[in-house]
Amino acid sequence: MPKLFETTKLNGMTLKNRFVRSATAEGMATEEGEATPRLINLMGELAEGGVGLIITGHAYVTKRGQASPAQLGIYDDKLIPGLRAMVDAVHERDGRIVAQLAHSGMLAIPKFINSAPLAPSATPLMIGGLVEVPLQEMTIEDIHATVEAFGGAGERACEAGFDGVQIHAAHSYLLSQFLSPAFNHRTDAYGGGIEKRSKMLLEVVESIRRRVGDDYPLLVKQNSRDFLEGGLELEDSIQAGAMLKEAGIDAIEVSGGTFASGALMPIRKGITTEEDEAYFKAEAQAFKERINLPIILVGGIRSFAVAEGMVNDHIADYLSMSRPFIREPGLINRWHSGDLRKAACLSDSKCLRPALAGKGVYCVVEKRLRDQEKRGNKA
Ligand SMILES: Cc1cc2nc3c(=O)[nH]c(=O)nc-3n(C[C@H](O)[C@H](O)[C@H](O)COP(=O)(O)O)c2cc1C
Repeated sequence: MPKLFETTKLNGMTLKNRFVRSATAEGMATEEGEATPRLINLMGELAEGGVGLIITGHAYVTKRGQASPAQLGIYDDKLIPGLRAMVDAVHERDGRIVAQLAHSGMLAIPKFINSAPLAPSATPLMIGGLVEVPLQEMTIEDIHATVEAFGGAGERACEAGFDGVQIHAAHSYLLSQFLSPAFNHRTDAYGGGIEKRSKMLLEVVESIRRRVGDDYPLLVKQNSRDFLEGGLELEDSIQAGAMLKEAGIDAIEVSGGTFASGALMPIRKGITTEEDEAYFKAEAQAFKERINLPIILVGGIRSFAVAEGMVNDHIADYLSMSRPFIREPGLINRWHSGDLRKAACLSDSKCLRPALAGKGVYCVVEKRLRDQEKRGNKA
């Protein structure tokens, strides 16, 4: 049995293979953040496709943390029935599903949250040097309320039947902003050295653990580096990871980059050769060598052989992909059947546009091909 199809356990959660569908904002919820039949069907389709673990798109833990239209929410008990339907669609197909809990902080869209985005400091984030949004520096009360909101969201995820939760502390969303010296200029208990910059994240872990208990899988997605001048660097990130392990998390998904990191953003384009793949492998290896926790590697994995090499070379324990599953939800079953051709995904990131516009994520290239075929058939 190839290692990638071994059964493993993550704090009691049994996984039938080492493949993970990385959190992917689907843009398929209602205005209020409720799961729709389209989103529930997508979860079922992913589970049917054989991936061992599905991580939902980031779900906002308070309204103030909403990042995009039609984003999934987990901020209120009224959302639990829809969340439970997502879980059921996966469990009925022998899959596992974890909810990603998030607050977008300075990346929140003012028109959705009806106020200025919250941030560790009022330093604006320049996206492509073009966008500058006035921000509101969080008070201690704002921090405490947000920590509790993460805790409440964790409890809701548990109640809805999710197999675990993942805290989003990557990609310049709120908790990643706190970790990053580029965005966090605070001089109180939540800013300064890495211990202080990790304080809010550690409090979030504690708040969730208190409500869900020790035997509930709790994962964190973390930036290894921001790839920004003055941003989070690898050594500090590993130290944060070590503190998270002490706080009782069960796995770390290693990512990197921010929306201001240019070509080194989290979702990189133009992955054509095996060398381009697994673009955070060096960082994942450093985590693996220093922190005794299961490591999930994300970013540009497209080939079965590359994925296998990551596990055989002790760089990662799990392999996480986002864009390949948008094009091919059945990719893992295909690989399992022996068809080891690489993922069809072209890594052009065109899928981001419909997802972030709230139109529902889909592979733009594949749709064009299908449309052309239809026109050809009619002609
Ligand atoms: C449409 C889209 C939506 C995404 N939404 C999220 C998200 O909600 N949370 C998150 O942590 N990462 C998100 N990501 C990033 C992916 O999880 C992943 O880290 C990144 O795409 C690199 O993996 P890939 O090369 O396999 O696509 C998203 C990526 C895409 C393409």
